Amino acid sequence: MARILTGIQSSGRQHLGNILGAIKPAIALANDPSNDAYLFIADLHSLTSVKDPIARKENLLATAAAWLACGLDPDKAVFYAQSHLPECTELTWYLNCYTPFPMLANAHSFKDKSDRLADVNAGLFDYPVLMASDILLYDADVVPVGKDQRQHVEMTRDIAEAFNRQTATETFVIPEARIDEAVMTIPGTDGQKMSKSYGNVIDIFLPEKALKKQIMSIVTDSKALEDPKDPNTCNVVQLYRLVAHPDQVVEMEAHYRAGGYGYGHAKTALFEVLLTAFEDERKRFDAYVENPQAVYQALALGAEKARPIAQATLGRVRAALGF
Ligand code: ADP
Ligand code: TRP
Repeated sequence: MARILTGIQSSGRQHLGNILGAIKPAIALANDPSNDAYLFIADLHSLTSVKDPIARKENLLATAAAWLACGLDPDKAVFYAQSHLPECTELTWYLNCYTPFPMLANAHSFKDKSDRLADVNAGLFDYPVLMASDILLYDADVVPVGKDQRQHVEMTRDIAEAFNRQTATETFVIPEARIDEAVMTIPGTDGQKMSKSYGNVIDIFLPEKALKKQIMSIVTDSKALEDPKDPNTCNVVQLYRLVAHPDQVVEMEAHYRAGGYGYGHAKTALFEVLLTAFEDERKRFDAYVENPQAVYQALALGAEKARPIAQATLGRVRAALGF
């Protein structure tokens, strides 16, 4: 049985891109009985960007509620918040001392973020080591991630191998990344990759009115209602294809080509199909947010299951280092 582990940052609410690109595929892996799945919320990682304590609490709740609403079964997966297991921060320090400085200085995501962000803190620099700690603490075999995270898993392997070699032990399991090439990049309302940092998200858990507003803000060209339109270059159709029934897609494409069908019509159709496709998820999300106790209980159960594994790993590490 392979131990699969993946995390998602709670740096904001989870949008359609996170749900289709990360949450749903991870839940499918957790539901496969041949996997032993560890799914967690990387709330310590989000401290590199989110500094407000109230936002932190809200984001943790909304992120956990999104996972549960999307069908994560806390009895099938070990589901926890990273910060509830402080073993992770202790291990980060040990790993830091086995991580070559140039490896971090050359990380793509650090270079990219340090060019873009105003707050370039040391946590941002050390982000890959905290991620290595997440993975190595729980003896993960396989780490399903998006393409942008491949380098971080490579670094985890390098750090683990260096530690095992230098201490002449087999303290760490060497993990492998699993990049699902089939998962496409979901476009945002402006046509770029949907991302919390670009302000172009569709948040399917919003109340209807606010969700409709996001959908109406999808950028299109300025063709008039009566003009024929190209479905293949339109953001609305791209998003519709992800959630509508194939027959509905064929119908919308025909409307586009025929003309007499405006972008407003298409956006309304997209809104309706999203409400139907995520009807159950939306109801469950609201129920969890109204009753956060159920969410916190699920996370507490996960922390309880994760703790013995974390402590066993730390025990091996301390012994290998003579602490
Ligand atoms: P964001 O860009 O919103 O901050 P993250 O970088 O925290 O999102 O990504 C969290 C997870 O969601 C990752 O596994 C990532 O691959 C996936 N993801 C994020 N945005 C998209 C998207 N637009 N399409 C597909 N997957 C996405
Ligand atoms: N860095 C990952 C991301 O932004 C989230 C993450 C943190 C993670 N720790 C992890 C993913 C461990 C996989 C394994 O998407």
